[in-house]
Amino acid sequence: MSKRPLIIVANWKMHKTRSEAISFFHALQPYLPSFDSSLKKILIAPPFTAIADLAAAAVDKNSFILIGAQNMHHAAEGAFTGEVSAEMLKEAGASFVILGHSERRHLFHETNHQIRLKLIMAFSKNLIPLLCIGESLEERKTGKTFEVLSRQLKETLEGTLPNEMIIAYEPLWAIGTGTAATPELVGEVHIFCRHFLSTLYGEDFAENTPILYGGSVTEETLLPLLKQPYVGGVLLGKTSLDSSKFIEILNLAGKTKI
Ligand code: PGA
Repeated sequence: MSKRPLIIVANWKMHKTRSEAISFFHALQPYLPSFDSSLKKILIAPPFTAIADLAAAAVDKNSFILIGAQNMHHAAEGAFTGEVSAEMLKEAGASFVILGHSERRHLFHETNHQIRLKLIMAFSKNLIPLLCIGESLEERKTGKTFEVLSRQLKETLEGTLPNEMIIAYEPLWAIGTGTAATPELVGEVHIFCRHFLSTLYGEDFAENTPILYGGSVTEETLLPLLKQPYVGGVLLGKTSLDSSKFIEILNLAGKTKI
């Protein structure tokens, strides 16, 4: 079972102005040569306003550092005040887009159907979708975790003819709470997701689609999580906001390469 090298994602949510984003990147830059043989990719999803600046700063590292968005609209264009299209993101320099993050699902009432439309648009524009899935505490307590995850995967992915994509398992009860899921639980879910992906789209697709874990990952919780089967990396919220913590995470993750 090969699960290295790893993908480390920074989701900055609604944090960092353009100048703060650039300062972060400058703090990271000197360390990049030491990471790029040990990590597969670093993905940074700043707010929309900082995508173009970061993409320009990261351009010579383009295959190793990808800049992306945290959301987009599923339509190509139209009267959708406040929304952003895949084409606009591409032109700004985005290479990937996070879709279906739990904050989008719960605070902004995004449905599996809408996420599916966004996935289709992302595939058609060659933006790598990073699809987030995860159960609530109530769903976990009532034994519905696998039912919820399979529904999220099936309703968003089935029939979309996916190509390159990333999936992140992010249980709602672990996001921003300071309590990461236990490594054993993450391992169990990742085995389930991998199997479910192979039933949907075959072994090759399952093998080539990294499945990440996200939810209160810190320097302390990182390594046991990465040791679990099929954990292809992590998606960091809070821990990714501080450049020194992020560099520490990259260092630790780089050392787990096998
Ligand atoms: P957190 O956020 O690391 O702050 O829990 C993770 C996420 O929302 O993706």
